[in-house]
Amino acid sequence: MKKIFWKESVDSTLTWAKEEGRKSTGKELDGALFVADEQTAGKGRLGRVWTSVPGENIYMTLLLMHPEIKAENAASLTLVMGLSVAEVIEEMTEKVTGIKWPNDVVLSKKKICGILTEMQIKEQNPEFILIGVGINVNQEEFQEDLKDKATSVFLETGKKLSREKILEKVTECFWRNYEMFLKTQDLRLLKEDYEKRLLNKNQQVRILEKGAETIGTARGITNTGELLVEDMQGNMRSIFSGEVSVRGLYSYV
Ligand code: BTN
Repeated sequence: MKKIFWKESVDSTLTWAKEEGRKSTGKELDGALFVADEQTAGKGRLGRVWTSVPGENIYMTLLLMHPEIKAENAASLTLVMGLSVAEVIEEMTEKVTGIKWPNDVVLSKKKICGILTEMQIKEQNPEFILIGVGINVNQEEFQEDLKDKATSVFLETGKKLSREKILEKVTECFWRNYEMFLKTQDLRLLKEDYEKRLLNKNQQVRILEKGAETIGTARGITNTGELLVEDMQGNMRSIFSGEVSVRGLYSYV
């Protein structure tokens, strides 16, 4: 039985789980879930803030202690989690759920979930990996600057869902997908399910990295989770998720 820790309010479940991971020496916290009703300093990708209104959404971080994976494969777990959230939301809402590479889960072209993975390395291997997941479940309103790119399951379906049920199903689904990942140490067994939902596939994308912008057409992902992009000359290159932002040419996706 995996452990679940809950707090009414915390700065960030990622920071909280990291502190616990650092204190722990063995495997007793492996698979533990750190959940909060509210975050006062939620963290997003690329140093952004993750706005975390109280009581309506899911803010959770999964801690993997001494996972049997190579440090260079850890970023793929973000995609494994993104796929798991998409599968569960699809099953629970019966709505088509897409993924914007690498890890945004999208309903009606707007983001309902973001994932941030962090890792602590010891002697070249991951000592622990943290997968932070924010899912907009029952939020009724978004601040002005987010309205055109963020939404919630409630706003798209008119139904309020149980956060506990989603949390339970997402973790169950993640463990199933994670097992598949471990079999090959990459995404090859999950690639088809991921690419089926990949909204960027065969779409033009704008890639922002290190201050430079390029445009190309996304063609899919590699077994290790990079985005395959074809440039104007027909050359293919793979993009690592690290510090890159990918947008549609005319909108968020
Ligand atoms: C993103 O899309 O930018 C990633 C957002 C990740 C948000 C989650 S909410 C739970 C966990 N704690 C945090 O501070 N961030 C992640």
